[in-house]
Amino acid sequence: MKSLIRWLDDRIPMTATYKRHVGQYPAPKNFNIWYLFGSLALLVLFNQLFTGVWLTMSYVPTTEGAFASIEYLMRDVEYGWLLRYMHSTGATAFFAVIYLHMFRGLLYGSYQKPRELLWIFGMLIFLVMMAEAFMGYLLPWGQMSYWGAQVIISLFGAIPVIGDDLTLWIRGDYVVSGATLNRFFALHVIALPLIMVVLIFLHLIALHEVGSNNPDGIEIKKYKDDDGWPLDGIPFHPYYTVKDVLGIAGFLMLFCFFVFFMPEGGGLMLESPNFEAANPLKTPEHITPVWYFTPFYAMLRAVPDKLGGIVVMGLSIALLFILPWLDRCKVKSVRYRSGYHKFNLMQFSVSFIALGVIGLLPENTLLKWCARVFTCGYFGFFIALWWYSKREPTKPVPERVTFK
Ligand code: HEM
Repeated sequence: MKSLIRWLDDRIPMTATYKRHVGQYPAPKNFNIWYLFGSLALLVLFNQLFTGVWLTMSYVPTTEGAFASIEYLMRDVEYGWLLRYMHSTGATAFFAVIYLHMFRGLLYGSYQKPRELLWIFGMLIFLVMMAEAFMGYLLPWGQMSYWGAQVIISLFGAIPVIGDDLTLWIRGDYVVSGATLNRFFALHVIALPLIMVVLIFLHLIALHEVGSNNPDGIEIKKYKDDDGWPLDGIPFHPYYTVKDVLGIAGFLMLFCFFVFFMPEGGGLMLESPNFEAANPLKTPEHITPVWYFTPFYAMLRAVPDKLGGIVVMGLSIALLFILPWLDRCKVKSVRYRSGYHKFNLMQFSVSFIALGVIGLLPENTLLKWCARVFTCGYFGFFIALWWYSKREPTKPVPERVTFK
């Protein structure tokens, strides 16, 4: 074994890469549970790739075959139901984990200097994830697949000048059709996963270049021993691999509960109209996206004008991209920031969740106004942050990491 490793090491930096990124990666001593979600995201990504390949083996990307091939998979293919539910529940798990992962970034200011690029790679991953989930949802060719795609693609038609040509270009037809299904299939199974894997690679390289932030928001590289090892750092392996295994076990229990006992998630993960084959002549009563898109969908609906809605939705993502430059505070972690910041972060989280709930419900006047108020809360977070962060009264930040 040793000579095999030596043989490989002479040809490819295997041991050196392992040491740099795992065995001797100095992780801050004070990581808490919020630092689990990056590893969980990798696990769920692996689950999606693995089950996706197997699903593709039975799936037929045509308007005549798509719905039937899923039914065949669910009923006749051995463990086909398990593969499908692992994939559909995996999509929900992916977004849940990523939203928590991003929230951790907000809590501890992990997007601030020197981690801006790491954050931007993260945001690009988030965009690709949204496109991936949207295109994947068309593939079962159920009622919601069809009408969801119809509604979202037609939004692009509101863009002045190029709108109509753009929608035609995306669909490859005048309506959502077999051409759309084929291209969404190609993008969903090949193009987007490849882009995502490359982006995740860059995300991790960028992280390991600058080093991890931590709940105190201080740079552990500042104090090193004579060998250049950060005084507040411990090797990622075994200290955090052990903790991650525990977290993964907990996560898998929850994941298996949903896969085996609630695969539809009460209509949140697999919507009931989607158990009916797509019918271009019959519109479902309420067209709602899957839960992870509903906060953005609620913002879209809150604006009376179609183009205005698209602009608001686009801005809600664009502002997250430039967050590292909107937050001008010198202190990173919420632990040492002002009451204003704590309140602002809290109202932002409440607004986002409330928008998510509103986006799931059928429209009415009261909800529309509530959506407007929470959309203001969402945007208010960024505007207020930019305004107060420069002059914010902060608490003294400790020199070395702390434990609670
Ligand atoms: C498939 C998607 C993703 C994967 C697999 C992934 C993976 C990881 C991993 C393994 C870590 C190190 C462990 C940890 O700190 O939790 C990490 C750190 C980080 N990620 Fe991601 N990530 C993903 C998406 C995102 C997104 C969407 C964002 C935000 C827009 C983001 C922002 C960050 C930041 C800021 C850090 C550093 C946190 C710190 O050091 O405090 N990531 N990511």
